[in-house]
Amino acid sequence: MTATLIDGKAFAARVRAKVADHVTRLREEHGLIPGLAVVLVGEDPASQVYVRSKGKQTVETGMASFEHKLDADTSEAELLALIAKLNADTKIHGILVQLPLPSHLNSDLVINAIDPAKDVDGFHISNVGLLGTGQKSMVPCTPLGCLMMLRDHHGSLSGMNAVVVGRSNIVGKPMAQLLLGESCTVTIAHSRTRDLAEVCRRADILVTAVGRPEMIPGDWVKPGATVIDVGINRVEGEGGKTRLVGDVQFDSCAAVAGAITPVPGGVGPMTIACLLANTVTACCRANGLAEPEGLTA
Ligand code: GUN
Repeated sequence: MTATLIDGKAFAARVRAKVADHVTRLREEHGLIPGLAVVLVGEDPASQVYVRSKGKQTVETGMASFEHKLDADTSEAELLALIAKLNADTKIHGILVQLPLPSHLNSDLVINAIDPAKDVDGFHISNVGLLGTGQKSMVPCTPLGCLMMLRDHHGSLSGMNAVVVGRSNIVGKPMAQLLLGESCTVTIAHSRTRDLAEVCRRADILVTAVGRPEMIPGDWVKPGATVIDVGINRVEGEGGKTRLVGDVQFDSCAAVAGAITPVPGGVGPMTIACLLANTVTACCRANGLAEPEGLTA
């Protein structure tokens, strides 16, 4: 391997330490405790694991965690009533509704019912519009984490060719907006892109968020490029055990790239760290206080 390993696990620990420092300052100097409400509807096992992790890390950084677990058959009216209550609650600075929601609930309607100032996921249409027009917004956690690691590794990203593979609202599109904001030349590629290999080979920065295990081989990577692998795919390993792999073939890509994030231990740990960062940011904005440095886009 020739590439520098970008250690997301260590980076996330530094972000959490910064969050915890800022939380201490908010408490000691202003008597404020940032609060994060997480809403889980139904019993999706993966979502339950995420929600537990979010709650634990929220408390570990000194913030208040409010968990709302609702039955899978909760009606839209009941969920909207809970969101209205959380919007009005001054102890709560961030609200996250865990996705996916059960199919009888309209996710867009639910997300857009959250007060945009408390939308720590950055999924509300107002935040999407603010980000797209280069205005101050709440920024989706996973792309924010990728941006933090890229800035840390490169300093300026200005003029670089960035290729984002994947066009989801959660990762691909906001990632492209953030890279455009850094003055990169940005291409969004997806499942219908012609000659994807050739497009990827032009990238100085290659961000992959497609959810297809190891689909990108080393010969799609420009020598010296930085590869940020957002994919977390569970595959069958040796002896019937499962293991996690990214969207890129790690060994062959690491042999060509200048820097690369591993899976696990790359982008994954940054997502919750950025959720905590967004909660502190939301608390500061709600109270007219200076935002923590280095924790926003
Ligand atoms: N489900 C998978 N990723 C996410 C995320 O970033 N936010 C929310 N709310 N749900 C998710």
